[in-house]
Amino acid sequence: MTAKIQGAQAPASAPAGALPATAAPAATAARVQWLRDELERHNYQYYVLDAPTIPDAEYDALFGELQALETEHPDLLTDESPTQRVGGAPLSAFDTVRHRVPMLSLNNGFDDEDVIGFDRRCAQGLGRTAAAAPAEDLFSAAEVADSAVEYACELKFDGLAMSLRYEDGKLVQAATRGDGETGEDVTVNVRTIKAIPLKLRGKAPAVLEVRGEVFMYRAEFDKLNERQAEAGEKTFVNPRNAAAGSLRQLDPRITARRPLSFFAYGIGELQGAERPPTHSVMLDGFATLGLPVCGERQVVKGAQGLLSFYREIGARRDQLPYDIDGVVYKVNAVPEQEQLGFVSRAPRFALAHKFPAQEMTTVVEDIEVQVGRTGAITPVARLAPVFVGGVTVTNATLHNEDEIRRKDVHVGDTVIVRRAGDVIPEVVAVVLERRPEGARAFVMPTACPVCGSHIERLEGEAIARCTGGLICAAQRKQALLHFAQRRAMDIEGLGDKVVEQLVDQGIVHTPADLYKLGVAKLAALDRMADKSATNLLAAIEASRETTMNRFIFALGIRHVGEATAKDLAKHFGKLDNLMAADEAALLEVNDVGPVVAQSIAGFLAEPHNVEVIEQLRAAGVHWPETEPMARAPLPLAGKTFVLTGTLPTMSREDAKERLEAAGAKVAGSVSKKTDYVVAGAEAGSKLERAQALGVPVLDEDGMLALLAEVAQMEQQGGAEPENAQ
Ligand code: IVH
Repeated sequence: MTAKIQGAQAPASAPAGALPATAAPAATAARVQWLRDELERHNYQYYVLDAPTIPDAEYDALFGELQALETEHPDLLTDESPTQRVGGAPLSAFDTVRHRVPMLSLNNGFDDEDVIGFDRRCAQGLGRTAAAAPAEDLFSAAEVADSAVEYACELKFDGLAMSLRYEDGKLVQAATRGDGETGEDVTVNVRTIKAIPLKLRGKAPAVLEVRGEVFMYRAEFDKLNERQAEAGEKTFVNPRNAAAGSLRQLDPRITARRPLSFFAYGIGELQGAERPPTHSVMLDGFATLGLPVCGERQVVKGAQGLLSFYREIGARRDQLPYDIDGVVYKVNAVPEQEQLGFVSRAPRFALAHKFPAQEMTTVVEDIEVQVGRTGAITPVARLAPVFVGGVTVTNATLHNEDEIRRKDVHVGDTVIVRRAGDVIPEVVAVVLERRPEGARAFVMPTACPVCGSHIERLEGEAIARCTGGLICAAQRKQALLHFAQRRAMDIEGLGDKVVEQLVDQGIVHTPADLYKLGVAKLAALDRMADKSATNLLAAIEASRETTMNRFIFALGIRHVGEATAKDLAKHFGKLDNLMAADEAALLEVNDVGPVVAQSIAGFLAEPHNVEVIEQLRAAGVHWPETEPMARAPLPLAGKTFVLTGTLPTMSREDAKERLEAAGAKVAGSVSKKTDYVVAGAEAGSKLERAQALGVPVLDEDGMLALLAEVAQMEQQGGAEPENAQ
């Protein structure tokens, strides 16, 4: 239902042009009302219940009908109509709004102690004693004291706080938080957000100010950035910035195209209704009124409950479809909230328990390049150490030259670094305002920093490569690490540090050299005790017995991952068969396309690669070999053809090729063993001989028909054509 609001056409059933543009008849007014209710109901199903009930096309049809009726009868148009979300005329500036109930902020907590302290203060403030469990006992079976305070736990959404004012159920104003006392009137923009009802469902209070967060789902953010990039427009750093930028648009038609969303979490002013008894009842009430409320919430007791909510959400943080920067705890009972009150600008009854930030700024101290196993040159930003996503980050990949240009990263720049979950840290954007004078642009080196070989970047490729191959120590190290990894030859103990020394000291040049190592050489390495040397040797020894797919994968052929290695092993059965295969033969392997086939053929055409393979086999690396995968014989295999005369459309060469491709043999003279003679104009003695011997004679059409027939047979599973003898 996204982005469908504009441009929907009235269905043919709409009474277009049937009625004059005067006061609408009652039946039309009723239909208009029904359409609005129906559209709002679907919005509610979609945004609040997260359970859409009709397909987009049906929604569009209803929408179109409503639009047509409103055009026909402008007197029926109201501000609350779902058609009025498309965004009106641009503003020149936002008006200022004074919040009648200030929009406060939350106190922050960062660790267990802060949470325990918060719980203790709440319990004391309410005249109870906090359950006095020490931190390490928090998850023991310790019973939660009856006196423990009850809290509503929810997420801390990473968006923008918003106050929505509903009067008699109608959205009359939307304002940003601003400084908490005054904010900006962004009503025209907020009206375009489909998750926000223009009219509340059911019986609404006279005045209800709903406080909540405007945000953007990550998937929608990614799509928006793709669209922006395609249109050559600026992309956004993160969903929060995208949401903020979208709300700050003076042209609401732009906001209308931005996929904004909303979750409600509080009340500002309220008139004409009692405050709900608890925070959780309030949230349920919001949903009943048609306001989206996040489902990730829970009512718990005491500090134990708070901390287990924090841990549970923390473990799932990266799987949530939107960004959060923590969780929020609020004393659940509203009278208790009132009893605890506020201290300066924040409530005593609530705490934001923050997660480690996933984005931080730091300075790019240098940009260096790293050389990978296949020679790929990767620029890496060396960063001033920064604590982000729970670890200290000092490096971030910049992927390739184009990426550096796109992000415009210079040495000296202040950048935003992101590390979410286990994902490797990345530079998200440059803070251009903080670029110092003399910031240096990155220049791709022309020579490999490790071996000095020429660096080349082939046309159409994003990656620059060192051309040094196995001459390059960096590539050799990576190749060895790849060879030894668990999924390849599984040599435990052959890690970075050992490989580094083995290569730098000239002890190991190729994987085959590993099998020549002795304890003495290994034990002499830094940080290598006799015991670990013996263990490593045992692991090398054990790796001699392997499987063909592991061996193929271990070779580190570009584009040959584990799956392709398995396909190759299965297809060829024996390594010699693979080594003898040309590109055409490789293309017959399941899932091997031209790029992979070319890469394998290229690898095997290098004498030094073949030499390493031979050395490995000579060193006793072995695996069980099998027969190559049986291939269905070609449909004309075993049939002999003779071509004679001039064929009407094909050259004899072409005809020969076609027949051979189907498995036939094309011979020069006719004998009793000839299966068919294909004769064209001015066929001479061969035709006569065929006739004399009773060999079937085909013309060009006959031959093509036969080829077509066998091709079809092959597709259907391979029986011989009826007329092939
Ligand atoms: S309650 C009086 N609940 O955090 C308490 N705020 O530092 C008012 N936020 O400006 C806020 N998720 O933008 C509350 N579940 C949540 C929230 C939340 C995000 C933001 C909000 C506010 C800031 C407070």
